[in-house]
Amino acid sequence: MIAESLETERLRLRRPAVTDAVDVYQNYAADPEVTRYLTWRYHQDVSETVAVLESFSRAWDSQQRIPWAIESKETGAVIGMVEARPDDAKVEVAYVISRAHWGQGFMTEAVSGVISWAFDQGDVWRIWAIADTENLASCRVLEKAGMQREGRLHRWGYLPNVSTEPRDVWCYAVWR
Ligand SMILES: CC(C)(COP(=O)(O)OP(=O)(O)OC[C@H]1O[C@@H](n2cnc3c(N)ncnc32)[C@H](O)[C@@H]1OP(=O)(O)O)[C@@H](O)C(=O)NCCC(=O)NCCS
Repeated sequence: MIAESLETERLRLRRPAVTDAVDVYQNYAADPEVTRYLTWRYHQDVSETVAVLESFSRAWDSQQRIPWAIESKETGAVIGMVEARPDDAKVEVAYVISRAHWGQGFMTEAVSGVISWAFDQGDVWRIWAIADTENLASCRVLEKAGMQREGRLHRWGYLPNVSTEPRDVWCYAVWR
């Protein structure tokens, strides 16, 4: 089911490489504001980014997770990441993009591209995502990409940059 690259109007989604580490580190992984609602802490050294990209390579090889680098067609820079996590008939989507690119419709474009790709696989019936109840930009992305809010998942998981207690999230999904 794996696709090494996908194209949208302004973006190329492709298999990440360790050579993307400087872009990833400089553009978003070292930014505490970008990582606020993520399950990991911002990177303090590019070696942490290298280790993550190496783990992405292993994920691709196992096909259990499919993290695509989001490359700007205009600049060729890696500006974010969007990940598909296949599981039987469903696929979870997660994502991040650099602050300099917020509010320009890029993540809606990337998530919509992944949804189209996933439904093209034939054996995928449900695509879903979670967003912290206070992460309004992320909720909006999921709505704009055509997902419906299914419900509140209480005490779903930890966000170490926000609280020491597990947080509530909204669960969104689109199905066919
Ligand atoms: C959430 C995130 C992916 C959005 O990416 P993006 O490329 O800016 O998203 P888009 O431009 O496609 O859409 C953002 C929408 O949210 C809206 N928005 C942004 N901030 C908002 C806020 N505080 N309250 C309400 N809406 C907000 C924008 O206005 C836009 O909606 P509109 O087109 O109707 O005006 C990006 O901010 C990000 O990477 N954040 C950090 C990582 C993260 O939170 N990932 C998701 C974890 S669940």
